[in-house]
Amino acid sequence: NQASGGVIAKLAEQKVWNGKAGKVLELHHLSGIAAKSVILVGLGDVDKITAASAFQAGGIGAKIAASRERESIAFAADHLPEAFHLQVLVGSLCGGVGQDLFRQEKSLFQCAKITWLDTKSSLADEANKTAAAMNWARRMVNLPPNELYPETFVEHATQFLLNSGVSLEVWDERKLREQNCNALLAVAQGSIRPPRLLIATYNPAESKSVPVAIAGKGVTFDSGGLSLKPTESMTTMKCDMAGAATAIATIQLAAALKLQQPMIVAVGLVENLISGSNFKLGDVIKSRQGKTIEILNTDAEGRVVLADVLDVLMERKPTCIVDLATLTGACVVALGTDIAGVMGNDQEFIQQIQAAAEHVGEYVWPLPMYSFFNEQVASKIADIKNVGDGRWGGAITAAKFLENFVGTTPWCHLDIAGPAFLDKPKPWMDAGGTGSMIRTLLEWLKEPASRFGSRKVNTSEGIDIP
Ligand code: BES
Ligand code: MN
Ligand code: ZN
Repeated sequence: NQASGGVIAKLAEQKVWNGKAGKVLELHHLSGIAAKSVILVGLGDVDKITAASAFQAGGIGAKIAASRERESIAFAADHLPEAFHLQVLVGSLCGGVGQDLFRQEKSLFQCAKITWLDTKSSLADEANKTAAAMNWARRMVNLPPNELYPETFVEHATQFLLNSGVSLEVWDERKLREQNCNALLAVAQGSIRPPRLLIATYNPAESKSVPVAIAGKGVTFDSGGLSLKPTESMTTMKCDMAGAATAIATIQLAAALKLQQPMIVAVGLVENLISGSNFKLGDVIKSRQGKTIEILNTDAEGRVVLADVLDVLMERKPTCIVDLATLTGACVVALGTDIAGVMGNDQEFIQQIQAAAEHVGEYVWPLPMYSFFNEQVASKIADIKNVGDGRWGGAITAAKFLENFVGTTPWCHLDIAGPAFLDKPKPWMDAGGTGSMIRTLLEWLKEPASRFGSRKVNTSEGIDIP
């Protein structure tokens, strides 16, 4: 405003641009300003700015800027408190990145040179790394299922984690069989693409605390299997590995930012397809943990995969477990497309995740886990069945199923079926993968998970419970 001789104040006076949240104005060749154009993005009333609106404002500016090719873009948001400033920066690095991976004519022109005015380097560094992790997860979700399947997911993850300080262990079919991962294998058996289980560990030097575990659902395509989905529900089912992408992105980010908290991530990678070798309705499968599962709907495959993934993590005695899964359409019915459902066996843990989400401007909301829902996953011929009695409360019955595989370890389940994928673009982000929950988990991991992370390993006895 100063440099332009008060032009911006005048525009506000004349009500050309009112600065309301999300309102945009692009000005060209302003005298007194060297930049070819200036994009104003409204943040609304100063006292009503939230982490979410800050992220969105950054994204809106970046998306407008990306509508054509530009040499460089400089963002200015240094007048905001640091937590909001950070979100503007992250948003500004996500908004220009689109889903048009395979278009010759791009709809968004990602600018190679993005800078921020008056931003201290530690903040810029955190923003760069956070956005890089989010954009990696978004890209994984956006890759089509003929390109991204269990084996290629592993290749991408290996590449992404190269020299990151995170080590990888890959279980192939033989190892999975050896390890009795029969539940995961049952879902995979309808596809000619072999499944994988990927274990990533981050162990910062000298850290003696017990790792936090994260599990991810990595169904690289979900046709529903014999309980086949109709076309309209199947078209976006490449997004069904978003939990796995989020989990890998989060451990990479934690390592990049040198967090003190050791972590272990496991993701179950399968395609849920349809063929003569499918798992069937009525099948009874013995999970790795030992509980038998009666399959009554092959489209409730995510929980079956996660049963074994959670058990693999449990064996490593983590201090707590978070799982991320595009698990149920029912969760989207309950909370809409923008909010993740959070469920678990530990109220305080759930509250910590909610608080972390609030801090970074993501939306999570708890659904109740009353024990009477257990009756709905009881089976007559096996220990448990993979669907509830009807469709009501489907997000909860799915979580209740998972609860069977975490014992008494504090566990928090994030159903991201809504927020992981945008069917339509938002003003601040293109359609497709969103990178949802990476910022929330990062925020939560920064505080070495308070009560959980402070448990130290008792070297001879395993976990020393305070
Ligand atoms: N991957 C789907 C859930 C989903 C739905 C993710 C919409 C993203 C958007 C999951 O495997 C599934 O099909 N769930 C079923 C469960 C039912 C058969 C109990 C569902 O939600 O209909
Ligand atoms: Mn399904
Ligand atoms: Zn699924």
